[in-house]
Amino acid sequence: MCGIVGYTGPRVAYPVIINVLKRLEYRGYDSTGVALLGKDLKVYKKKGRVADLEEAIVGQDVHAHTGIGHTRWATHGEPSDRNAHPHSSATGKLAMIHNGIIENYTQLKKELVRKGYEFKSDTDTEVLLNFIEDIKENNQCSLEEAVRVALKRVVGAYVILLVDRDEPDTIIAARKGSPLVIGIGKGEHFLGSDASPMLEYTKEVVYVNDYELAIIKPEELVLKNLGNEKITPYVQKLDLELAAIEKGGYEHFMLKEIFEQPQTIYDCLRGRLDAVEGTITMAGVQNYIGQLTNANRILIVACGTSWHAGLLAEYIFEELCRTPVEVEYASEFRYRNPVIHPGDVIIAISQSGETADTLVAIEKAKEQGAIIFGVVNVVGSSIARLSHSGAYTHAGPEIGVASTKAFTAQLVVLTMIALKVAMEKGTITRERFMHLLNELHEIPAKTEIVLQQSEKIKELAEKYKDARDFLYLGRGYNFPIALEGALKLKEISYIHAEGYPAAEMKHGPIALVDESLPVVFVATKDSYHEKIVSNIQEIKARKGKVIAVITEGDETIKGMADDVIEVPEADEIVAPMLSTIPMQLLAYYIGVAKQLDVDKPRNLAKSVTVE
Ligand code: G6P
Repeated sequence: MCGIVGYTGPRVAYPVIINVLKRLEYRGYDSTGVALLGKDLKVYKKKGRVADLEEAIVGQDVHAHTGIGHTRWATHGEPSDRNAHPHSSATGKLAMIHNGIIENYTQLKKELVRKGYEFKSDTDTEVLLNFIEDIKENNQCSLEEAVRVALKRVVGAYVILLVDRDEPDTIIAARKGSPLVIGIGKGEHFLGSDASPMLEYTKEVVYVNDYELAIIKPEELVLKNLGNEKITPYVQKLDLELAAIEKGGYEHFMLKEIFEQPQTIYDCLRGRLDAVEGTITMAGVQNYIGQLTNANRILIVACGTSWHAGLLAEYIFEELCRTPVEVEYASEFRYRNPVIHPGDVIIAISQSGETADTLVAIEKAKEQGAIIFGVVNVVGSSIARLSHSGAYTHAGPEIGVASTKAFTAQLVVLTMIALKVAMEKGTITRERFMHLLNELHEIPAKTEIVLQQSEKIKELAEKYKDARDFLYLGRGYNFPIALEGALKLKEISYIHAEGYPAAEMKHGPIALVDESLPVVFVATKDSYHEKIVSNIQEIKARKGKVIAVITEGDETIKGMADDVIEVPEADEIVAPMLSTIPMQLLAYYIGVAKQLDVDKPRNLAKSVTVE
């Protein structure tokens, strides 16, 4: 979390930094700050969003051509002006921004306090900065050298950007465990946590790797490792257009991204699935097909919404491929001393490709000989690069903090992988394979039909927006969708919601049911249909309000539920790609009805780069 940005070149740095920071606000929005390096080094910072900072510094001198900026998601120290980045060193000569956590900062702080240092903030960042300055002053060395020495003592994750009053036009950057991208312009350089916010300035980027340090001047980029050896920067071209990161007339990114799903699902299938020939072409799968088909088990690691995609993948892989699958929260898996055998296949699912827990979990598994297969949205991200192989979800930049289009793209990719492996293993008949290919092929068009119900879902949102709690229930393939529906509602509307397997509801949550509790059933027609009908009756018998997502024309549930949302008929394996969309819209419209900032819900960040 936290967004970092830097610029050095002929332009006035401040507007560039503010522009990129606004696009990086999805990474955190507790406070904002900039350090501008001109004749002097000026630091401006403020609790709140980028717009608050802009307002606060109207009339100040912001004409420098080099600068760094930060948007914070607080870890050490509450959101406040004094904990906002950039931090200034004790002498005021250095300023630094940081994304990550310095785990041994208490130790470093003790050493500095003993030397007489005083601290203005509660942050680990200010400690690291003064540690660097202390080395610089004591050794009379360059900032670059001091950073290198300091980082050898640091335990934790970081991207840091520093400027030094005595080194004009220069930014020093270093990374371990948090993302850093350098944009290359003509006589200018840009730095950011993510490549897409730099799109309007340049499409040429260098992804900095862990333990690398960059010395950036307008005309020069020097990349080194911590051993002071030069590394040749690998320049890549971004295959993205600016429109992909703009709202395009929608009120919120979240709504735009929900409505993009027919296209993103199509993009995900395009060039891969041929429903006429009956083929799935995925080079990343093909290259590791032996490992995937022979795996004794598949482990899926992920967090948040991506974990829900993993849970659904478990059902699909076990059904189609007959391979045992375990789905793990990356944060638990990494600390649990899990049993991993060489040849185990780990599927890491991540929209951002930067989630710290997922990243470390797969690093550990890789060390133990596992094959890492990444299902990632952001091209060139850390998880994508760390994986042996993988498949991109091609959903395009997702900016709304709550994941929507990335989730459906994950479901599509995971289903295609399962189908390809099943075909190779011989655990699926050609007929069923062809049927499911056809079903997938029809999903973009069916998604359009679901979206046509948005006005109706908006009315439901008005009706239920004041509920204190919600229960989301589903069985089988729809159980992960119930979990995802509850998560969406919590994230966006701050209403407490629980997702549960519909049958398990009798072992506890049913005690919550009364006339004030809306219960959302994900109840499209599948092998469990009769069972879920009984569960609906159990809720109705206790006066709960039932909102059911059903297959078009399901008169049985229509006759029982208080409200229904119909989705087109689809095979039970692909139906969740449709039934999840009403969940997204319901959460969105309730959030809007409650006048909340749905794109930037409180306390959340899109890319969780701290553990
Ligand atoms: C955060 C985001 C979620 C996301 C999760 C995992 O919590 O707000 O939307 O599902 O991180 O992120 P990843 O990028 O690894 O999918």
